[in-house]
Amino acid sequence: MKKKVLCALLSAAMAVTLLTGCGSGEKAETPAASTTEAPAEAEAPADNGSGTADGDTAETPAADANAESTGGGLIGVAMPTKDLQRWNQDGSNMEAQLKAAGYEVDLQYASNDIATQVSQVENMISNGCQLLVIASINADSLGTVLAQAKDAGIPVIAYDRLLLNSDAVSYYATFDNYMIGTKQGEYIRDALDLDNAQGPFNLEIFTGDPGDNNARFFYGGAMDVLNPYIEAGKLVVQSGSVDFEKVATAGWATETAQSRMDAIIASYYADGLKLDAVLCSNDSTALGVTNALSAAYTGEWPIITGQDCDIANVKNMIAGKQSMSIFKDTRMLATQVVKMVDAIMKGGEAPVNDTTSYDNGTGVIPSYLCEPVFADANNYKELLIDSGYYTEADLQ
Ligand code: BGC
Repeated sequence: MKKKVLCALLSAAMAVTLLTGCGSGEKAETPAASTTEAPAEAEAPADNGSGTADGDTAETPAADANAESTGGGLIGVAMPTKDLQRWNQDGSNMEAQLKAAGYEVDLQYASNDIATQVSQVENMISNGCQLLVIASINADSLGTVLAQAKDAGIPVIAYDRLLLNSDAVSYYATFDNYMIGTKQGEYIRDALDLDNAQGPFNLEIFTGDPGDNNARFFYGGAMDVLNPYIEAGKLVVQSGSVDFEKVATAGWATETAQSRMDAIIASYYADGLKLDAVLCSNDSTALGVTNALSAAYTGEWPIITGQDCDIANVKNMIAGKQSMSIFKDTRMLATQVVKMVDAIMKGGEAPVNDTTSYDNGTGVIPSYLCEPVFADANNYKELLIDSGYYTEADLQ
């Protein structure tokens, strides 16, 4: 019964999210949900088996000067941008679930502008937020304001993206980013049957923003699978761009990926050479690559990976223009982060399941890693529609 109420709440929040659109820089709309269902009743996210068991606890974060032991209080939620569908969903889900747990929420989006995010976090501190949940634009750029939070006794949870080189970070919650890259690399390996087929096959590589710590994990996971085949000559990167810095995409921007792919097609694939696969670390880069291919590539369509199951990309998957995406159920991540917030606000320690993988430069940050799931044209209905994440109409 309670799960049903929560499902209804999540669906309502999702509907609001999908209607909100992609404007930048405004405060998010308040979700329709108004139930007071506690997050503790939510279904626990699946444990991914990497790291220690769910329920392990980290060291208690710095004492919170303002925290109340009875629950309730003001939580600041800083999101990077409204330009990408996923962050709208993350923000809406966090807001809805925190409110349902009895907290007030100051939710801000920063239009992918670092200075804006810094001032938003400063305002959260001066406005009396008792805990901060931050999905950063740049992992390294919030040091000063994070130090202010620490001085004020305000715990910080890094949301999805790790905050680097700051000892103010109490916890980290994300999906298993290395595993995401591994799944993308394995998809290409298996689709091209690299262990048996003669090849060689042509591959191009697109990863994310160099200031986003996740990008290195996605790239690292995928390249650990693909590098041996590149070294053996079975995979050939005609553009020669293999190193992280060369294949990074500033701001994860679709347009940047698109113009790089335009140039690669013009230089290497305009004379009929077949492009067999494009490793794209996420859906916004995959969209740019797909747009470029649609405009200028005449050969057999390559395998293209992605991540996030954004609506445009799921449509492309259905149309055969993108081979796979990684489904990261943002409801699951929000549920986990709300559990962490609630535990900390009540004076306890947050549940974590990984205490080894994420060193932010000041030491390992106790983390909770949710499990990413592989999605393609065969299973998207079950994963995305049956779970209430999207409706059939969203994908038409
Ligand atoms: C997130 C991805 C997202 C990318 C671009 C990464 O930090 O983990 O889900 O696609 O940022 O916003």
